[in-house]
Amino acid sequence: MFEKIDHIGIAVKDLDRALRFYRDQLGLELKEIEEVDEQKVKVAFVPVSESNLELLEPTDSSGPVGKFLAKKGEGFHHISFRVSDLEGKLKQLQEQGGELIDTEPRYGAGGAKIAFIHPRSTGGILIELCEH
Ligand code: CO
Repeated sequence: MFEKIDHIGIAVKDLDRALRFYRDQLGLELKEIEEVDEQKVKVAFVPVSESNLELLEPTDSSGPVGKFLAKKGEGFHHISFRVSDLEGKLKQLQEQGGELIDTEPRYGAGGAKIAFIHPRSTGGILIELCEH
């Protein structure tokens, strides 16, 4: 059911500045940049072997990442697990009393189906499940 760690989401104020570290200094490759209007973010995908870093720069301070940055500053935002049956997993979590941010999958960057589990249910970590 769980296939891999798909990506790690990192909130940044300035994508260009973040890429100066991850790409230019660390030497990772930038795969692509995509704007996700629904989430009010610009997303840069930086592959690391089988997984990705997902660098998230808010395009508007009213979006979820904009609010996160204002409250907590830059840094780790979420971890995303790739699953083969997202809807089934969401249903199972709900039946077990898990607190979901998204009870139904929605579409995220790269056309993936995604859903978030609330940190209150996970011991403080925002967890995303995704299906490609
Ligand atoms: Co993500």
